Amino acid sequence: MTTMTTLTTDPCSSVIARLLAAADNSDRRLNEQRANLSADEHARLMMSTENYRAFYGALKDFHLAVSRETATLLYLLARSSRARSIVEFGTSFGISTLHLAAALRDNGGGRLVGSEFESTKVVQARANIAAAGLGDLVEIRAGDALETLASDLPETVDFVLLDGAKGLYLKVLSLLEPRLKPGALIVADNADWSPEYLARVRDRSGGYLSVAFAEDVELSMKLPGEGR
Ligand SMILES: C[S@@+](CC[C@H](N)C(=O)[O-])C[C@H]1O[C@@H](n2cnc3c(N)ncnc32)[C@H](O)[C@@H]1O
Repeated sequence: MTTMTTLTTDPCSSVIARLLAAADNSDRRLNEQRANLSADEHARLMMSTENYRAFYGALKDFHLAVSRETATLLYLLARSSRARSIVEFGTSFGISTLHLAAALRDNGGGRLVGSEFESTKVVQARANIAAAGLGDLVEIRAGDALETLASDLPETVDFVLLDGAKGLYLKVLSLLEPRLKPGALIVADNADWSPEYLARVRDRSGGYLSVAFAEDVELSMKLPGEGR
């Protein structure tokens, strides 16, 4: 007998397959555009703490999704840690969100608060999540996460994905920190663009245990004795 998961059964698996194929296409188009940018200019845009709104506005039609491997890992980590309360910085069209919400479903339920400031992406992410049958678990907050994640958070947070503007990772972590449970996991994608964030979670006296793996993903765990 094969044991199924929400991730690998319909409707969720079909929605994810469609989105991953679309993300592959949009990655190809993005790589063509990037060829016109110098490495310095690309780094400046990726790390910006000021002009991120315009940068992501210009990328509003691109998925910019986590890799397939990272997406599966998100499901595995959230599922195996039995997460019930998840916060996501940077939802885009919802590929990472679907993997995390599928884990919530298989964990017996819970709540995922996502965040996205591009209004067309918010509409599509909500539609994708509804089509996957996961709408009852997910709230996508429209607007800048520095504002939308500054209040009305779940009482405690078990799992965080950081995948919005890289220059804001440390600020977003600071917003969530008081709610993080001991043992909470934080996955930061493309974390090499956020040296201040890496310094914070890798500082052994800072309350986290942290490791880099795969291509540019940082996995950190909140240690007991700090926060909740
Ligand atoms: C790398 S993409 C996220 C991809 C998504 N996690 C996935 O795997 O499908 C980053 C997204 O974050 C959004 N974003 C960036 N900074 C943000 C902010 N400060 N507040 C809300 N959304 C933000 C961008 O518009 C973009 O859609």
